[in-house]
Amino acid sequence: MRYDSITEAIGNTPLVRIDPAVHGLRHIDLYAKLELLNPFGSVKDRAAWNMARPGLPAAVAHGSQVVELSSGNTAKALAVIAGMHGLPFKSVTNRMRIPEIKDLLLLLGADIEELPGQSECLDPTNTEDPLTLFHRELTGPGSDYLHTDQYFNPRNTEAHTTGTGPEIVKDLDGRAPDWFIACVGTAGSSTGVARVLREHDQRVRVVGLVAAKSDFIPGIRTLDEVHEVGLFDPATYDTVAAVSSDEAIEGMLTLARRCGILAGPTGGAAYHGTVRHLRPLDDELTEHHEAGEEVARQSAVFIVCDRIESYLSYTKRRRPDLFRQPPRRNALADLTDAEIAAAPAVDTQDARKWIERDRPLVVDLRSPFAYAALHIEGAINIVDELFDELVRGGLPFSTRQPVLLVCPVGEQSARYAALLTRMGHPDVRSLAGGVIAWRDAGAPLVRD
Ligand SMILES: Cc1ncc(COP(=O)(O)O)c(C=O)c1O
Repeated sequence: MRYDSITEAIGNTPLVRIDPAVHGLRHIDLYAKLELLNPFGSVKDRAAWNMARPGLPAAVAHGSQVVELSSGNTAKALAVIAGMHGLPFKSVTNRMRIPEIKDLLLLLGADIEELPGQSECLDPTNTEDPLTLFHRELTGPGSDYLHTDQYFNPRNTEAHTTGTGPEIVKDLDGRAPDWFIACVGTAGSSTGVARVLREHDQRVRVVGLVAAKSDFIPGIRTLDEVHEVGLFDPATYDTVAAVSSDEAIEGMLTLARRCGILAGPTGGAAYHGTVRHLRPLDDELTEHHEAGEEVARQSAVFIVCDRIESYLSYTKRRRPDLFRQPPRRNALADLTDAEIAAAPAVDTQDARKWIERDRPLVVDLRSPFAYAALHIEGAINIVDELFDELVRGGLPFSTRQPVLLVCPVGEQSARYAALLTRMGHPDVRSLAGGVIAWRDAGAPLVRD
């Protein structure tokens, strides 16, 4: 293989059969589409290149900046592509949560602009999400950016109708698999591949995987967020199922240790979600087989989006045992639903009286950008990830100090209130409904 440019090495990734001794399915052949072998490390190389390519000559002529709303793989691929063309790249995001990816973007010369997200945005004179406003500015007439617009750009999906989908069919000797399973971020890859597979065989069943509610698997949406994505069409999927971050890490371990596939958490989620979904079906096929019926073999393909190396700190936080470290103390994940439901909470009216009377320490767990935009007067800002580190070491406040915890909608603060209560704090409360409820009740907020 000889190429004139690294971009020619995008695509044509291997389709690798998973050893049935690993997955245990008896009548279904399972294949992994190894998108992690793309040159910049992920499935997004295809989309980034397909979206950026048409605009590059004009961008080079004007010296435009390449811009994308991404905190992960799309940004990584675009940073490389922009650099190769002598253009600057800016990644706009509401939170860079994976330190290795943030560092890599900086190393590649990217600018990173962090803006508050929808639920964190509280400016009453500007009720729209700053990210949405920024998106409009980028897309509007006269914009001098090369904005690849991955959440709405049909060329994102097209990268997979022309590349990923046909490659799968070719490697299965011209047939579509019976099952196709993919994690959903922008929905570009799952939508594009599903379209091609259905053109070959309408019977193919498509499973979209997302992160469980209030959970975090980097690169994909949660069950709550998935409908907000421009390219997402529920008709694409026969089933949309949730995978937890613990399941994603288990899947990642199986792929790495037993299959030699160094997948990241979404590859692990795809493997785990696939086997979990297909096992009951495989059991049914076994019953038919044992009853003497003829059972045709089926096939399933799942996508391995990216590589494990960027997620070592993500994995270590959740599974210190894998790194020979003692188990995590005081982890939110250990709380029961009953403990969370019983977490002490106050509504805005009572919180205001309480603040007047007892002066609790008000701790705002939102991002620094959201806090700077508007917050409760006197509140201190400890972003939830930092707060998580603090409570690992023990109670971060004196038990004589009452504490009011505040987050966007009251979910995260309720969890921490439950945790601190369990750890022995006698008077910690969560602001019910979060800063959103506080604002909606007309209570005062201040700006930094
Ligand atoms: C790690 C990872 N996995 C899966 C996906 C999902 O891909 P898509 O955006 O095509 O839905 C993404 C997208 O950003 C990703 O970064």
